[in-house]
Order: sequence, then structure tokens, then C-alpha cells
Amino acid sequence: MISGIQTAAYVFASILFILSLGGLSSIESSKRGVLYGIFGMLVAIAATVFGKDVEGHIYIILAIVSASFIGILLAQRVKMESMPQLVALLHSFVGLAAVLVGIGSFLDVGVKEITNTEKTIHLTEVFIGVFIGAITFSGSIVAWGKLEGKISSKSLIFKGRHLLNIFLVLVCIVLGVFFVISGNDFGLNYLIAMTFIAGVIGYFLVMAIGGADMPVVVSMLNSYSGWAASSAGFMLGNDLLIITGALVGSSGAILSIIMCKAMNRSFVSVILGGFGTVSSTSKSTLIEGEITALEHEEVSQLLIEAKTIVVVPGYGMAVAKAQYPIYEMVKELQKLGKTVRFAIHPVAGRLPGHMNVLLAEANVPYDIVMEMDEINDDMSSTDIVMVIGANDIVNPGAEDDPSSPIYGMPVIKAWKAEQVIIMKRSMSTGYAGVENPLFYKSNAQMLYGDAKESVEKILGFIRLNQ
Ligand code: TAP
Repeated sequence: MISGIQTAAYVFASILFILSLGGLSSIESSKRGVLYGIFGMLVAIAATVFGKDVEGHIYIILAIVSASFIGILLAQRVKMESMPQLVALLHSFVGLAAVLVGIGSFLDVGVKEITNTEKTIHLTEVFIGVFIGAITFSGSIVAWGKLEGKISSKSLIFKGRHLLNIFLVLVCIVLGVFFVISGNDFGLNYLIAMTFIAGVIGYFLVMAIGGADMPVVVSMLNSYSGWAASSAGFMLGNDLLIITGALVGSSGAILSIIMCKAMNRSFVSVILGGFGTVSSTSKSTLIEGEITALEHEEVSQLLIEAKTIVVVPGYGMAVAKAQYPIYEMVKELQKLGKTVRFAIHPVAGRLPGHMNVLLAEANVPYDIVMEMDEINDDMSSTDIVMVIGANDIVNPGAEDDPSSPIYGMPVIKAWKAEQVIIMKRSMSTGYAGVENPLFYKSNAQMLYGDAKESVEKILGFIRLNQ
């Protein structure tokens, strides 16, 4: 009876998790997606804790309540820009859990009684689960350390690095064979030796990646943590954990592929921990023309005269926290009858969906927030593009300059508009360290200054003119 109810609850929770992922795929439905996820997790936890073969409920409930309290506290305190660190830390917990479940499962008296093929399968599950868990654990700790500034963000690259990693993986495979063959208590030594070596592999994989590329790695570690959870599900014979882990594992991998495409990175290099050396400032071969600059009042006049305006926000908007005055400015312009929309590049800022989250925070309606692919064709019929704290995502060199490190990365074609106003503090480069030929084009003009202060000044002039 209990078993039947538990199975039904697991199926229900799995459906909620799938609906949650579906919901998270668009801004409009994302809140609903989060609610599905929370509800699904509540059902999953209740069905597991009160399911068959579970004892010591009081201890489990105490652990859940205190961990939830810590979780809520952390989530309330974390700043938007510290989110990747928190996520990396949470992934490390999943990795550690998989290691502990594996070792616990090996030591479990009940499990020791199984024999023959069943035993071989179980030991293999334990070994693979602990291997993935240990890599996820150490890799996530290194990612957290780099993002938090506790470890140097420079990539640790040395000759023979890939060979060393391959050698360590081979040693783990040999240990795995000994572990499965031995099948007795001595096997614990092989398991622990492998855990240590897998931890070293995770360390080297993530140490090889530059700090600024860490968000892609965090998304990849998200995928690894899913597979670690899935393997823990195999060890515990828990179907829901297998399904949930596979959902996290595959969705994390899909997100990583999307991010790699949008940044023109090789997915294989990310998995092998081989990219991330951001090139130093490189001179574009496309730079022609002079830089011209405007003052705030001139920009407000241009906006008052324009009919169609597109705002392209980037990392600088996040740094300046300019989203609130930007939306105030957009509302003023809408009152004057202008069509104003936002153009969002998939990797604008430093987090997946970074700009969407910030604009949602400022209550910008979703229907004026366009994805790059939705709006690129409209650029040539736009009067003014305001590039606010963005750089790489509007760099024409990504399309025209094969020598550019970002060549091949899809970009927002701001230069096609009648006029482009670029708001940033100086001529310094963006994340990729490349110069931007857009700034030198005849239809482009700079407006120097902090994005928030500049937008507030422009807003003041627009209001003064009414
Ligand atoms: P960036 O190319 O990094 O350019 C941001 C620009 O903002 C800088 O050139 C900077 O110029 C300006 N800025 C900084 N603070 C400012 C402030 N307070 N006020 C005004 N401007 C300010 O940003 P992007 O265009 O958003 O492109 C994102 C880059 O990050 C891409 O190369 C992408 O591949 C990479 N990346 C993205 C992600 C994700 S998932 N989003 C993850 C890792 C890497 P000044 O210093 O002159 O002001």
C-alpha cells in the first residue's frame, strides 16, 4: 500500500519537475516554473521520508528544518552578482552527497548480502557514482573559490596537463576493476583511493579555466551534479532520484551548449577543462574612422526626435544598477509616443538570463523585451539604438573580422540602425578584451559616464522638455 502511494507520488513529482523545466524556458512562465519545482520537491521529500524502509524520522525532520532555515537565510542574503558562487557551492554539496551515499551504500550490511551479477552491477554503480561525485565536489569548490576571489582566477595551464588527466582517469579505471573484482571489505581502499584521485581530476579540470569564464563552467558542473544525483539514485534504488538527476544533468548540459554557442566556445573544450584563457586586448583590423562623443542634453534631444528606439543593455548596466532609471526613461519616451524596446543578447552580462532578471526586477513588461534573434532584422528600421554598458555583444568584428577572438559569436547588429549611442565610462574593452569597431562608425557616438548617472541626467532633460 505505502509502496503504491510512494510510486504514485514519485510519478507526480517527476511530472512537476518536467513542468518546472518547461516553465523556466520563458520569462513569462518562469515564476510558475519555480513554483512547480518547489511543489514537486515537497512531494518528493514527503514521499521519501514517509515511504517504506525509512527510520529515525525525527532526525531526518530536524535535519530538513535546520537545512531549510540555512538555505532560506543564504538565498535572502545573496546578491545577484554572487549567485554563481552560491550555485557552485550548492553543486559541491550534491557531489559530496553522491560520494557519501556511495561509500555508505558499499558499507551497508544489507547490500553486502547480494551476490553474483547483481553485486557486480551494484559495485559498478557505486564506483561510477563516487567518481562523478568527487569530480563534481572538488571542481565546484574550485569554481566557488575562483568566483569568490579565494583562489587566483588565472587559468592553471601547464605542459602535459591533458596527458596527466588521461593518466589519472586510467588509474581510476584500473582501481575500479580491482574494486569490483575484490568485492570484499578491502575494496574500500580502492574506493577511497579513487575518490582522492577523482577529486584531483576535478581540481585540475576547473583550475585550467580562467575566472571570467566560470559561469559556463558552473553550468557544466550543474550538469555533472545532476549525473552525480542520478548515480546516487541507482545506488539507493530510488527511481525519482534517477529521473530528477537525469533532468538536471541533461538540462545543465543543454544550457552549457547554448552558452557555448552564444559565446562561440567549443563545448568539448569546456568538458575537458581546456578553454578560458581570455586573450589580452587585441586590436581589430576593422577599425576605421574617428570617435565622436555627445553630451547628455544632446542625447535627450535625439531621443525626443526619434520614433523607434532600441535599448541594448550589457554588463555595465548590471554594474551601474541602471535598470530602474532606464525603465523610468523608457516610460517617459513611451508617453511621448515613441516605440521603445529592449534587445537582449543570450550572454549579455555574466550570467544566463542576467539582463532579463535585472529588467524584471525593475518591472519592465515582458512584451517590450526582445531576444536577439527576434529583433535583429528590425535594426535597419530603427532610429536610435542605445547601447547601455554593453560592448562585446554589439561588436561587428564578431561577423566581419576572422582575426577577432569573438569571430563567429552571434551579435546584436546595432550598427544597422540610423544612429547608435554607446553609453560607457571609457574606451576600455569588454569581457573578451577586444576593441570594438562599432565605436568608430560614422553613425555611432559615445556618451561617457556611469550608466546610471547618464540615464538619470538624460531623463532630467527629457522631463524638462515636456
Ligand atoms: P562586456 O563586453 O563585458 O562590456 C561591458 C562594458 O560595460 C565594458 O566595456 C565597460 O566599459 C562597461 N561598463 C562597466 N561598468 C559600467 C558602468 N558603471 N557604467 C557604464 N558602463 C560600464 O559586456 P557585454 O556586452 O554584456 O558582453 C558580455 C560578455 O561576457 C561577452 O563577451 C560574453 O561572452 C561574456 N560572458 C557572458 C556570460 C553570460 S552567461 N552572460 C558568462 C561569461 C562570460 P567601461 O569600463 O569603459 O565603462
